[in-house]
Amino acid sequence: MAPAPLSPIKVGHIEDVQELQKSKPNKVPERFIREGNERPAFVISQESASSDIPVIDLSNFSSPGLDDFLSETLRLSHACEEWGFFQVINHGIEMEVIEEMEKAAKEFFGMPLEEKQKYPMEPGTVQGYGQAFIFSEDQKLDWCNMFALGLHPPSIRNPKLWPTKPVRFSEALEKYSREVRKLCEGLLRNIARSLGVKEGRFEEIFGEAVQAVRMNYYPPCSRPDLVLGLSPHSDGSALTVLQQSRDSCVGLQILKDSMWVPFQPLPNALVINVGDTIEVLTNGKYKSVEHRAVTHRERDRMTIVTFYAPSYEVEVGPMAEFVDDETNPCKYRRYNHGEYSHHYVSNKLQGKKSLDFAKISTI
Ligand code: OGA
Ligand code: NI
Repeated sequence: MAPAPLSPIKVGHIEDVQELQKSKPNKVPERFIREGNERPAFVISQESASSDIPVIDLSNFSSPGLDDFLSETLRLSHACEEWGFFQVINHGIEMEVIEEMEKAAKEFFGMPLEEKQKYPMEPGTVQGYGQAFIFSEDQKLDWCNMFALGLHPPSIRNPKLWPTKPVRFSEALEKYSREVRKLCEGLLRNIARSLGVKEGRFEEIFGEAVQAVRMNYYPPCSRPDLVLGLSPHSDGSALTVLQQSRDSCVGLQILKDSMWVPFQPLPNALVINVGDTIEVLTNGKYKSVEHRAVTHRERDRMTIVTFYAPSYEVEVGPMAEFVDDETNPCKYRRYNHGEYSHHYVSNKLQGKKSLDFAKISTI
């Protein structure tokens, strides 16, 4: 079942942050200013650092040496269990494909507003140019412009939203997304092995996997201490692949032991995170971790984020191997993934609240 359309809601006028930053570089409207405990400087980790976030070398999974293969598998399971986030190197996607995508996305955000508004994210939808996840006039806004497109299966595409300018945009996105899809398929096989289940297990459950992309552009902000680039959330996907443009400053932060750890990926690495679906399927053994983005006073930042998830038709719930009435009671109910997706996009981003949809109450 494809997610039903959302009902239109009154969200007031949402200012385009890029335009705001160009015309009034020192102004931060009230609607962007966070409460004290949501502000970026609150509980930043001094102990954990980017350098502790696991790096997975994917070439070791095709290495003829059994030792490399096994130790990388162990590292992967540690990364998913302890961090929910890791970065992959030697991922096999050609630099040229990544650079072309990055160039096309940058050019898109660099176009005049009227041009970008030809592809609007209409109220009640999640594809196109605009700000998603806004449901009321008093909700705080993120310092970010987004452009989102459904990619796969073809039935979720909205061809009217595929830009004709920049001219190479569609070609770059098609190539990039084919490669990222292969990467996700391979990662899921390795994640299955790291859990001790059959390699093709996730593929069997997922059916024709859904893939979507969201490009996030964070302009500089004169008060990065007061605003967030992206509100704290976990991802509603199974896996997420994040590519940060090369000249970007640090912006992504992940919540570890109740503190925000800044994450600056290695050059040429892709950032991977476990989404809500993997948390449910593994009955919480691998967790989707809360993360957010912050802004910078002088520098902009762009990320290209791919969400990979089961078909809307399938039913998901904890896999039997991870449930045991005594030590590991079932924490999530079974549900239809299309309904979950609908639930996810019809609520504001709010930490890990999205998973309440699936949680079995223990009281
Ligand atoms: C996302 C996300 C973080 C970033 O798009 O879901 O978490 O740094 N983005 O852009
Ligand atoms: Ni995210």
